[in-house]
Amino acid sequence: MLTIEKVEHILRPYMARTLSPKFFTELYSTNRKGFLDKMKGLLDKPVANPLRETEVCGIKFRNDLGNAAGLDKDGSLLEFNYFLGAGFAIVGTVLDKPHTGNLFPMGKEQHNPWVPLPNSKSALNSLGLPSLGVDKSLENIEKFKQKHSPENFPVGLSIMGHPAQEGEEKLNGILTCVEKAVGKVDFIEINESCPNVAHKSDDGLADRLNAIAKLKNDTPIFVKLGALADADKTIELLDNAKMDGLVLLNTQKDYDFYRPKLSNKDHKVFDYYTKAYQGGLSGEIIKETSLDAAKRASQAIKAKNSKVQLIHVGGISNQADVQESRKYAPLREWYTGMMDKMCSGPINKVYSDLV
Ligand SMILES: Cc1cc2nc3c(=O)[nH]c(=O)nc-3n(C[C@H](O)[C@H](O)[C@H](O)COP(=O)(O)O)c2cc1C
Repeated sequence: MLTIEKVEHILRPYMARTLSPKFFTELYSTNRKGFLDKMKGLLDKPVANPLRETEVCGIKFRNDLGNAAGLDKDGSLLEFNYFLGAGFAIVGTVLDKPHTGNLFPMGKEQHNPWVPLPNSKSALNSLGLPSLGVDKSLENIEKFKQKHSPENFPVGLSIMGHPAQEGEEKLNGILTCVEKAVGKVDFIEINESCPNVAHKSDDGLADRLNAIAKLKNDTPIFVKLGALADADKTIELLDNAKMDGLVLLNTQKDYDFYRPKLSNKDHKVFDYYTKAYQGGLSGEIIKETSLDAAKRASQAIKAKNSKVQLIHVGGISNQADVQESRKYAPLREWYTGMMDKMCSGPINKVYSDLV
């Protein structure tokens, strides 16, 4: 990354302890878009990366680690992720119509909040699904594929019901996105788990998935959950609904459980942020939870002789995490750890150190 980001990264743990938490939060929230724009132009050719070919659902992946949903909301970072060495990319979460996400006044403008918890290698976000809409994202995916014809670099699209809709309208929004995406992306993730928007229709998952399955043709569909309660029942539900895979987990919101596990040097920021914006925790703090879920899901898949494939996500930041994750899942994703590594070390090591 650029020198300024490296210096900022070194100072970050100190800034979290000493700056006002409001100022610290607004600093990162107001700079998020600019930082992502900078990432787009950071690489003009692929960096050298080892291959670790993996086949899942009949799709070939050049390696088994890709970016998690939320990093590239609209497909404008596909070229960057491809050049960086990702084994695959997730675009989204996208919605049927554009959405601002959760906007809060900061300075003279409004922004989607997020904040790092640098002493705990974690983060909090309450972006609330900003999306340019499914059409723009599919257009960007198409342009990327035409430009690069990327070999063994599958692109998945994460889809969710629009937070401003309910009932039939919301379901139809999901189905519209699936219908548009089928055949244009390599696989689909149905996001059933964003903690930053209201879920008024948590029940009826089986019916939703059955409706989605009717549209899937040959495009594999994964379902992303925020928690794994009964692993056997979940795998059974996915099998019955003819789903191809399960993604575990999304960000976590059990603040009483996680707060004592955070470094106390991050408590000031954590307390301010969760009171002002709530938000989901990501990064190292959720690693144990996500690994436990992946382990239980993989046991249930084996016990049931299910064809459901697993993608593990949550707290991956180094090679040991990847090795542990490989015990349970053929594919994995990362976000918080990836951003941290990009800001702290050489860009050509981001993937090659882990794969
Ligand atoms: C800023 C931010 C935005 C995110 N947006 C989405 C999203 O749009 N859809 C989704 O399914 N997950 C989203 N996530 C969750 C990640 O995909 C991932 O499940 C979670 O961060 C745990 O992985 P990590 O510990 O490697 O970050 C987001 C996470 C972060 C930090």
